[in-house]
Amino acid sequence: QAAGSRQYSNITSLPPTYEKLHSKYTEVRRVLGAQRLTLAEKILYSHLDNVEESLLNNTNNGRDIRGKANLKLKPDRVNMQDASAQMALLQFMSCNLPQTAIPASIHCDHLIVGSKGADDDLQAGIQTNHEVFDFLESAAKKYGLDFWAPGAGIIHQTVLENYAIPGLMMLGTDSHSPNAGGLSTITIGVGGADAVEALVGAPWELKAPKVLGVRLTGKLSNWASPKDLILHLAGLLTVRGGTGYIVEYLGPGVETLSCTGMATICNMGAEIGATTSIFPYTEASARYLEATRREQAVKNAAAFQNFPGAGASEDAYFRFKADEGAQYDELIEIDLSKLEPHINGPHTPDLSTPLSQFKSTVQEQKWPEKLSAGLIGSCTNSSYEDMTRVESIVRAAEEAGLKPKADFYVTPGSEQIRATLERDGTLQTFEKAGGIVLSNACGPCIGQWKRQDGVEKGTVNAILTSYNRNFRGRNDGNLDTMNFLASPEIVTAMAYAGSTTFNPVTDSLTTPDGKEFKFPAPHGLEGPKTPFDIGKDVFKVASQPPNPNEKVAISPTSERLALLEPFEPFPNSDLSGLKVLVKVSGKCTTDTISAAGPWLKYKGHLPNISANTLNTAVNAETDEVNVAYDLDGSKHTIPELAKLWKERNQPWLVVAEHNYGEGSAREHAALQPRYLGARIIVCKSFARIHETNLKKQGVVPLTLANEQDYDKIAAGDEVATVGLYDMLQNGGQGEVQLKVTKKGTGEEFLVPVKHQVSKDQAGFILAGSALNLLSKSASV
Ligand code: F3S
Repeated sequence: QAAGSRQYSNITSLPPTYEKLHSKYTEVRRVLGAQRLTLAEKILYSHLDNVEESLLNNTNNGRDIRGKANLKLKPDRVNMQDASAQMALLQFMSCNLPQTAIPASIHCDHLIVGSKGADDDLQAGIQTNHEVFDFLESAAKKYGLDFWAPGAGIIHQTVLENYAIPGLMMLGTDSHSPNAGGLSTITIGVGGADAVEALVGAPWELKAPKVLGVRLTGKLSNWASPKDLILHLAGLLTVRGGTGYIVEYLGPGVETLSCTGMATICNMGAEIGATTSIFPYTEASARYLEATRREQAVKNAAAFQNFPGAGASEDAYFRFKADEGAQYDELIEIDLSKLEPHINGPHTPDLSTPLSQFKSTVQEQKWPEKLSAGLIGSCTNSSYEDMTRVESIVRAAEEAGLKPKADFYVTPGSEQIRATLERDGTLQTFEKAGGIVLSNACGPCIGQWKRQDGVEKGTVNAILTSYNRNFRGRNDGNLDTMNFLASPEIVTAMAYAGSTTFNPVTDSLTTPDGKEFKFPAPHGLEGPKTPFDIGKDVFKVASQPPNPNEKVAISPTSERLALLEPFEPFPNSDLSGLKVLVKVSGKCTTDTISAAGPWLKYKGHLPNISANTLNTAVNAETDEVNVAYDLDGSKHTIPELAKLWKERNQPWLVVAEHNYGEGSAREHAALQPRYLGARIIVCKSFARIHETNLKKQGVVPLTLANEQDYDKIAAGDEVATVGLYDMLQNGGQGEVQLKVTKKGTGEEFLVPVKHQVSKDQAGFILAGSALNLLSKSASV
């Protein structure tokens, strides 16, 4: 029996949420017959634009789909956080459409600095960023999007509480969007440009992922928590182990987890590079939907699972779990009963140490033994269960007269969880113990942390968080802060000790009256006894119809926001008269092409952020960093010269080495060069996602057929393409060469290049960008 199915035995019609899913699933079954499917495949394939074409093309007649088929998907909705929503919305606006093709929401969470406490920080954050928030809110009103104002909560928590429904497919403009896999959705983290494709109603492309099964047995006990499962898995698989995979959990252990625990595990699938992660729908999922006042969703899910398709076999029913006998590309078994708490870090989430070995590792590695701060909460770990488990140990310590020795911060994931914890007294317990409750926002998780403890940049120190990422500088901008990840319970207990070598499972603390105190194993409640309190509803502007009269708030003098002009289309001929702006050597990551840090505030202002373009690239001819020479020999920074050439209408190209554009999938790394006048990038090899992003923005990525030709091309050389226009006209078929004319000597020669341009991508490039093309055929 499927979870929550007891209410339904004779179903005659489907709830609207599931009508489309059901008819697509029936098609999937028609095409694939009795093939056994994982849950991830069922949901993913049931969101295909054209089921037959996607599942049969490039596959062994519907077999071996994974890793081979190019899926063109139609997601159900898009969720955007405030930092990435800016460029996504600016791009959407450049399409001149009256509304989005699918529902979407905006969440103001990334821009609030955590410092003194919720009220002060929120007010300060609103003041500093009001221009961005006003823009996002007005765009939401104009296009009919849900808007969650600053203070409403962190995107993934809000999505789990409000939008996640089993069987949905969502895109989120944030890497931890897979959090919603804890409620049996397929939710994938994407960049703004991908989100816009979905918003204009175009199919979103994905190479069919492989499926990594994680079979759970046993049951967590004592100090072990869902966080420890994913911390352990990150250690096993490393930060790249999940690349190209969806991680799907199965087995009897799944039934023992809470819904929010499953979400924590899916959230951190991003740390192993997985496309997304998913859990089956269980009784705990149904209980969470009920606690978040979505009883109807429980009924709908039950009705859907009991509604047969054509034929009466088991396959005709869509169950929110894998088919019996479904095959996984890889299968890992984990016995939850044997799992112990883990601590991961510093500086990488896959450096995993079991708690029992942490003390000796700290001493061996000479990591700081003093713990400066413990931070709990965030989108990863601020559930009712997490917080009440923490509350149980805080109460015990409080009764023994103890206070945390390290600074102790709590970030609620949403107003709903904050208000509920306040209603039920949990937050007061933390505050009484000296904990500082920060606003319902990302804050210290994304470098928005103004530390109050006087730890200066450059000071080596250790902190523990229950967050998900721990790259250098991630929390406080200090590269010397050693940031470790653990469950909220472990973080809190260690904050009481103020020590990284304290093991709360085995060690004791001394109380003020000299007694020995040992923490009891934490215990908490899966959810509140009465449904969640929605808190202050001033934070949300929801489900509004689009208002064409709404003026989107962008000041023409703004430094942070600027309207986008569509890029010009490809000329009706090959490209000619391009000049090499710079030849770069060594690594050229997306961070090299578009640096982060202080530049993040210009994410919505393409001209301003473009002033960082390639500003840490190494000039291959001079070994200088961020130096390029104009045709007259004058010296400039790379972005300055690019800007000069843009003003002169001088189109250009960059020549580079291997794996150009590796690193995070930053769309600005493709947008900025395009804005400044780049038409092609020529290198020895590309990082895959960046190569795709370039094509989406109308820049042609070409790789040298003979790597030695890298040595023959230099800055200032003139380049024309031969065969590129024909290749694009022929949907990506045909040979391309570069005709190089050497600066100074005028010597000419041909350089053969390779390309990976598909038919769709050829269309994008010819139109000037993917958006130019998609907006013409938008289905809104
Ligand atoms: Fe925000 Fe950190 Fe989560 S930045 S969305 S709390 S991963």
